[in-house]
Amino acid sequence: MLAETGQNIEKSVDILRNNGLVAIPTETVYGLAANGFNQTAVAKIFEAKNRPFFDPLILHISNAKMLNEIVTKIPQKASQLMEKFWPGPLTFVLQKSNKVPDLVTSGHSTVAVRMPNHPLTLSLLDNLEFPLAAPSANPFGYVSPTTAKHVFDQLGSKIPYILDGGSCEVGLESTIISFENELNPTILRLGGISQEKIEEIIGKVSCNVNQNSNPQAPGQLDQHYSPYCKLLLINNIKLNISNIPKILFFSPVTRGKYFENNMIFPHEPIYLSENNDLVEAASKLFSTLRDFDQKGYDTVFIEMSPDQGIGRAINDRLTRAMVKRH
Ligand code: TXA
Ligand code: MG
Repeated sequence: MLAETGQNIEKSVDILRNNGLVAIPTETVYGLAANGFNQTAVAKIFEAKNRPFFDPLILHISNAKMLNEIVTKIPQKASQLMEKFWPGPLTFVLQKSNKVPDLVTSGHSTVAVRMPNHPLTLSLLDNLEFPLAAPSANPFGYVSPTTAKHVFDQLGSKIPYILDGGSCEVGLESTIISFENELNPTILRLGGISQEKIEEIIGKVSCNVNQNSNPQAPGQLDQHYSPYCKLLLINNIKLNISNIPKILFFSPVTRGKYFENNMIFPHEPIYLSENNDLVEAASKLFSTLRDFDQKGYDTVFIEMSPDQGIGRAINDRLTRAMVKRH
């Protein structure tokens, strides 16, 4: 059986009510969704993704009523951020209610929750009486999908339906902020909303995105988001005209740091943004990495993004993608 791709909300509702899986579009990346109140349905997600059970899932909602069913308390600063950024790429870790199965949270007393900003998925959620548990719709450890085709290519034989909402606008996963310690809100994953934007609303927050000091967010494994193609940092090598490999630059502007702008390359360099724009670069990152595998590239030399705003999230993904597979 191969997945059908389409925009049929009724069909999606049907499958999800019967504890099946549907891939859903969001503004960040595609999710692999199931009934978040049902252990059997949620177990299918782990199986399809080959995801370890210690890695908890995000619950997706479309309204405040559902939020109140799944968390016991909403700290004031969390509420201010929801007001400002929902629907949008910001996920909150809050104390969970009894309705949330342990499989969703990997046994933790907290649950991750977000309201995604995509019209198809919001209207799907409006038709359901449960939240959707959904990790990114890729095999564990690989690059996250930003089109319906990406999902089909890798999970097409494992799921019945892909709700096609076009290309994901943001292209990077949501930022995760934990309120487990209410007095010290802490960013656990950099993503679609920058730390700067969060601090504009609620003041200084902590940032703890490294696996070693942060075993509670296993999605932050050192190696993650990795294509099969090997990625190496450009500043670690000496290049001359005869050995110039494939190179991913942030933009035509930044390549000037390494080469004369009028230098002729044996391979046309690849740019994350032709316009030197961080948001555009973020939206193209994952499809660009996938493309390297599609084209069968063995090695690509990469340049990091400017380390500010959403550029920090781009660099976070690039750093993890560079780590060698175990
Ligand atoms: O943009 C996104 O967030 C996408 C779309 C589909 O919404 N979803 C996504 O899910 O990226 P996933 O499963 O690939 O990443 C979820 C991350 C994992 O790193 C997990 O460890 C963390 O959320 N997480 C989930 N529940 C948590 C909890 N209770 N405490 C700490 N981290 C948690
Ligand atoms: Mg993921």
